[in-house]
Amino acid sequence: MSGRPRVVVTRKIPAPVEEELTRLFDVQLNREDRPLDAAGLQDVLRTADGILPTVTDKLTAEVLAADPLKTRIIANFGVGFNNIDIAAAKTRGLTVTNTPDVLTDDTADIATTLLLMIARRAGEGERHVRSRSWTGWRPTHMLGTKVSGKILGLVGMGRIAKAVAKRAHHGFGMRVIYHDPYPPKPEEAKALGAEGRDSIDAVLGEADFVSLHCPATPETRHLINADRLKLMKREAFLINTARGDVVDEAALIAALKSGTIAGAGLDVYEREPAMAPELLSMENVVLLPHLGSATTETRIAMGMRALENLKLFFAGQPVRDRVM
Ligand code: 8YV
Repeated sequence: MSGRPRVVVTRKIPAPVEEELTRLFDVQLNREDRPLDAAGLQDVLRTADGILPTVTDKLTAEVLAADPLKTRIIANFGVGFNNIDIAAAKTRGLTVTNTPDVLTDDTADIATTLLLMIARRAGEGERHVRSRSWTGWRPTHMLGTKVSGKILGLVGMGRIAKAVAKRAHHGFGMRVIYHDPYPPKPEEAKALGAEGRDSIDAVLGEADFVSLHCPATPETRHLINADRLKLMKREAFLINTARGDVVDEAALIAALKSGTIAGAGLDVYEREPAMAPELLSMENVVLLPHLGSATTETRIAMGMRALENLKLFFAGQPVRDRVM
């Protein structure tokens, strides 16, 4: 390649990363932060050597069919890459990378935040105070559910789940159970006070809080459906910081309405940013706008990790975080 590689960054990202990208590449930034549509993404694929997209860029098989294809690397900003049709990317000879590790703690913090908020009715309490409805302390006012000592069930036991287990077990004295088809080493689980179960269903039946930590793949789509929600205890809560697709949202709404489960703490949604109107009016849910990795430190680290992948790729070296 003659000259500096042309790299398109699809959204506004933290300034230090934009500066470093500008130093290294012939970069096109998106200072207005306007999302690209399918035609815009195809235009990028036809003209740039590398693309740094986010969860909001749907790189479907149709989009990736762009012709002629100039792009050779998709350096995704995020650990999850369900916004990219990996099979299609492979067919087109594209390298795809992600940004693991750097967002593990922040995402675990958000899962823990949701767990505490839904158990202790923190969102509801905030709304109560702000609407000037609070008339003063009373012994039976807004009673929530105790967290300490309860059972946390983890669906998936990867990096983020382990970080949640650490917080829950060592911070709140919770018992942790999990299911993962690729379980951690026994000593690693033991250090987290975590016990494996042979099925998701077993985890669902036993846990007081269920937290989802599996990737969104065709196999995990609607993993939590009406039947599985019925396996949960009526007083249990569901926490989702993974991906909206993992939960059948209509089934979840029905379960929340009928009291099949007690509540849910959600950071991700099936059709985000579109929200199911029913969720917006329910008191037994806590709703966050996909904030898992949203700290200044982590968003810079994610950008730098994507940049590192681009740098290695264009230097002809093996990338750090190849996802296929
Ligand atoms: C990102 C996430 O902010 O990394 C992920 O998988 O869900 C978020 O933390 C998002 O994907 C940005 O593209």
